[in-house]
Amino acid sequence: MGSRLHRVDQGDVDSAILAHCRRVAALAMEIGRMAGLPAPFAGPAWDAMGGSQEDHGSPDGLRQVEELAGIVRLCSLLDQQFESLQFGYKDLETIFDAVRALAGHEGFDPSLVEHFRRMRCREVPRQIRRGEGLPVEARAAREVFRLLGRDRDYEVRELALMALRDPVLAGSLIRVANSSLYSPASKLSVVGQAISYIGTVEARKVMLAAVLRPMFASAGLTRLWSHSVSAAQFGSALIGQTGIGGAEEGLILGLVHDIGSLAIQFAPRETREFSARLVERGCPATYAERLLFGCDHGEIGADILDRWGFPAHLTEAVRYHHQPERSSGALAALAYLMEFWQGSDEDLPSFHRVEHCLARTGLTLEALAEIRTEDSQLKTLRSFA
Ligand SMILES: [Fe+2]
Ligand SMILES: [Fe+2]
Repeated sequence: MGSRLHRVDQGDVDSAILAHCRRVAALAMEIGRMAGLPAPFAGPAWDAMGGSQEDHGSPDGLRQVEELAGIVRLCSLLDQQFESLQFGYKDLETIFDAVRALAGHEGFDPSLVEHFRRMRCREVPRQIRRGEGLPVEARAAREVFRLLGRDRDYEVRELALMALRDPVLAGSLIRVANSSLYSPASKLSVVGQAISYIGTVEARKVMLAAVLRPMFASAGLTRLWSHSVSAAQFGSALIGQTGIGGAEEGLILGLVHDIGSLAIQFAPRETREFSARLVERGCPATYAERLLFGCDHGEIGADILDRWGFPAHLTEAVRYHHQPERSSGALAALAYLMEFWQGSDEDLPSFHRVEHCLARTGLTLEALAEIRTEDSQLKTLRSFA
């Protein structure tokens, strides 16, 4: 893995070019559709565009081919702008303006840029950011996070009081305490006993996981949930290596780092469909999110966690876990590495960012490779995955 940062071979270049072409094609198909052109990039579509080989030289056919070529140039410019974000942040409107300014030089109709603006989902981010689009369980989550989001010692009694408000919380604690992992001599049936038996540290993890799990399940996002649990395991181990925070913070950071992706599932159908098509055709999730919402799921998730009363440094790490260079704290860099090392395909690959994050956290690729999560103390959490 280490050599990949310093040795870029032809295969990497080819796959980067191919990935760029796929994204440009994905964007061009959307813009072409919005501009009223027949769907391009498929064999039969060529006929639909201007007719067959013999007659695509007709005035109509030529005009459409020229328009399509302009759309491809526009989309290629937009993709280059997105790729350059790793070197310096620009908001979406600035990107649109920069691309539009090149219309004369690149030979496309500047008004085509407006189709990108039309794709944008303007109203929903406010609702999503309030957590209003989340399933009912999110309301319970907000209360649990408000109470359990702080990294401090908890008393058995306060955890028991909280757990007894909700049957899922209480049931989860009793289930875990009675599981083969803890194997009590006799079955425990009282929440307070269950917490004392597994310890307040584990009990807090169980309660957080129990609240988050149904949210993911209700949205049909089990893959996202298991990714979050893996991230929690890895984050917890990773943070222990760096001294940037406590293992508990790594755990919570991993569990909630993609909560914004969950919220996005409740965006309007049209936006979700745009996003699904772009992702299916090769655009990473954050790429589609930036285009459709003007921000990525990290920023959306951080706004939700803010409202849930999460500590500011954790919120900041979630906000910038895909743009670590925008954070002054090292926790965002750690979260970026957490995603990177798990092979997350949520973002455009960026060795520039990996290097930045390694320097920021004091980690090396060799140290990352040595991190083992199998022996971590997180078996309780894994039982939920
Ligand atoms: Fe993630
Ligand atoms: Fe993410």
